[in-house]
Amino acid sequence: MLNIENLSVKVGGREVLKNINLTINPGEIHILFGPNGAGKTSLLMTLMGFQGYHVTSGLIILDGEDITRLPVNERAKRGLGISFQRPPTIRGLKTAQLLDICNQHGQDIEKLSYDLALQDFMDRDINYGFSGGEIKRSEMLQLMLQKPSVALLDEPESGVDLENIVILGEAINRLLNKIIPHNAIQSHKEIRELRKESGLIITHTGHILNYIEADIGHVLYNGKLSCMGNPREILHCLEEIGYEECIRCRSN
Ligand SMILES: Nc1ncnc2c1ncn2[C@@H]1O[C@H](COP(=O)(O)OP(=O)(O)OP(=O)(O)O)[C@@H](O)[C@H]1O
Ligand SMILES: [Mg+2]
Repeated sequence: MLNIENLSVKVGGREVLKNINLTINPGEIHILFGPNGAGKTSLLMTLMGFQGYHVTSGLIILDGEDITRLPVNERAKRGLGISFQRPPTIRGLKTAQLLDICNQHGQDIEKLSYDLALQDFMDRDINYGFSGGEIKRSEMLQLMLQKPSVALLDEPESGVDLENIVILGEAINRLLNKIIPHNAIQSHKEIRELRKESGLIITHTGHILNYIEADIGHVLYNGKLSCMGNPREILHCLEEIGYEECIRCRSN
């Protein structure tokens, strides 16, 4: 579904991503760990096609199509969606107006806004005066309305309290179509075949792993993807010995 091949990226004249290779197959949820400044947000912003992230080499392939040079709106049309780590405040644009724009598939905005406890935010300007957790829920609602085939989530649980993290976890599962009636499936293989939406999720704390079924974890360190494996094992390793030791021992 999404193939990143030998991707190197410069931001502000500095190389922040070096030779990244990553394949995300349909239905897979990948987790991206990495210390502050490692380049995680830069990777997501580059995949989405934002200005200022200059691809110096490599390719981004979505569903077999080279999207490396496409503008952000064309990538969104093809099924890429992002929730930002720090989205902007937009004075003069009501939350309801933006949600209407996002709602390309005729979903029930009112019901979804209740599910995300955002029903009282419709008349407020986008993110203006929102708390950290409210911003994250609003980001998720916008993304759910877009129904992306590949969702890029930049620290979706950062600053979110314990009750709201449950709401966000459910929202991510719905976004990635992971809620399937038990009687509809018999095996793990069948579940995988039913799932088509994919996700790339950045997390520092790993709390979100308690609410979603993630498939593969990676560590981004100094702009390089250093290892790949079970996300819970990687998190445990990071907690025990830290980033530097973790990538050293896992790459040996
Ligand atoms: N416009 C810019 N000009 C110069 N440097 C930049 C610019 N944007 C990002 N950087 C630098 O690129 C590096 C990677 O930043 P990035 O935001 O991708 O890190 P991150 O892994 O998401 O970190 P965090 O966990 O703190 O969110 C940082 O050192 C950052 O200061
Ligand atoms: Mg970041």
